[in-house]
Amino acid sequence: MSEYILGIETSCDETAAAIIKDGREIASNVVASQIESHKRFGGVVPEIASRHHVEQITLVLEETFEKAGLKMEDIDAVAVTEGPGLVGALLVGVNAAKALAFAHNKPLVGVHHIAGHIYANRLVKEFEFPLLALVVSGGHTELILMEEHGDFNIIGETRDDAAGEAYDKVARTLKLPYPGGPKIDQLAQNGEPVIDFPRAWLEDGSYDFSFSGLKSAVINTLHNAKQRGQEYKNEEIAASFQASVVEVLVEKTYRAANQYGVKQVIVAGGVAANKGLRNAMEAKFKGEATELMFPPISLCTDNAAMIAAAGSIAFNQGHRATWDLNANPGLDL
Ligand code: KG4
Ligand code: ZN
Repeated sequence: MSEYILGIETSCDETAAAIIKDGREIASNVVASQIESHKRFGGVVPEIASRHHVEQITLVLEETFEKAGLKMEDIDAVAVTEGPGLVGALLVGVNAAKALAFAHNKPLVGVHHIAGHIYANRLVKEFEFPLLALVVSGGHTELILMEEHGDFNIIGETRDDAAGEAYDKVARTLKLPYPGGPKIDQLAQNGEPVIDFPRAWLEDGSYDFSFSGLKSAVINTLHNAKQRGQEYKNEEIAASFQASVVEVLVEKTYRAANQYGVKQVIVAGGVAANKGLRNAMEAKFKGEATELMFPPISLCTDNAAMIAAAGSIAFNQGHRATWDLNANPGLDL
C-alpha cells in the first residue's frame, strides 16, 4: 500500500501544503505566495505574514486535497515545519497540522525547515551517502554533511548574513523590488563583472561563510563612484556581486566535497535557483565522479512538498511529535 504524507509549511511568506506519495512522488503541491503584500515594505513584515497565513491556510489545504484526489483518511502522517522561521507564521502551520492530525487520529511529525530544503532534492533523485548539501536561502547559508538519512552535520555556516539576505540587501541598494535575488540574477546575466569585490575566504580550511563585508563593499563602491561622478550600470554591479558570492560558494563546496569524498553534492534553498550559481557549479563538477543535483526552480524556494519529503523519512525512522508540539523560531538542525 502506498504511503501518503501531508506536508504544511508556513515559516516565512509562503502558505504551502503538499501531499507526497511514498516519500518521493508529488501528488499535489500548492503554494500561496504573499510576495505582493510585502513588496511595498521592501521585505517580509512578520505581522502581515501571520495574518495572511491565517487567511490562506484552509484554502491551501482544501486545494491540496482536491488536486491529489485524496481525503484526510488516506493520509498516513501530517508533517509540519516547526522551525526555524517567524514565530507567528510558524504557529499557523503548526496549529493547522495539530488540528488535522488530532481530529483524524493521525501521527504528527515536526520538520526542520532546512531538512525540508535538502529533501526537495529527493523528489528528483534518490540520495546516495555520504552526501554534501549546500543550503543557500534567505535565512541560511550552510554546508551540511550527511552520512545517512536524517543525519545532518553542519561543517560550515555563515557568520553574518545569509547568501539570499545579501542578494536582497544589495537589490534594495539598487532600488530593485523585493525579493531582489531573482532580479540581481537576471541583471547579472547581462553584465560584465568589472568590479573586483572581495571574496571572504576566512581562515585556511574553514567552510564558514561571510557576506556582510561584500554587501558593505557594494554600498561603498556605489557611494564613492557617485562622488567621483562615475556611474556603474546595475548590470555591472549585479554581475560583480554575483561573481564574488558564487566563487566562494562553489570553491568551498568543491573543497568540502573532495575532503569528505562525497558521492553527491546537492544545492538547496531559494538561492539554488540562481543561474550563475547553477552554471558555475556545473562547470566545476564537470567530469568529476561526484554527482551534482539541483531541485527544479519551483522546489528551490519555500514549499511544502519538501517538508512532506523530509517528513516521510522522519516518520519512517519513527519520529513522532506530541500534541504539545510548538513553533520553535530558533530550532537547531
Ligand atoms: O528558501 P527561500 O524561499 O526562503 C528562505 O527559507 O529563506 O529563499 C528565499 C531567498 C531570497 O533571499 C531570494 O532573494 C533568494 O532566495 N532567491 C534568489 C534567487 N531566487 C530566490 N537569489 C539569487 N538568485 C535567484 N535566482
Ligand atoms: Zn526556505
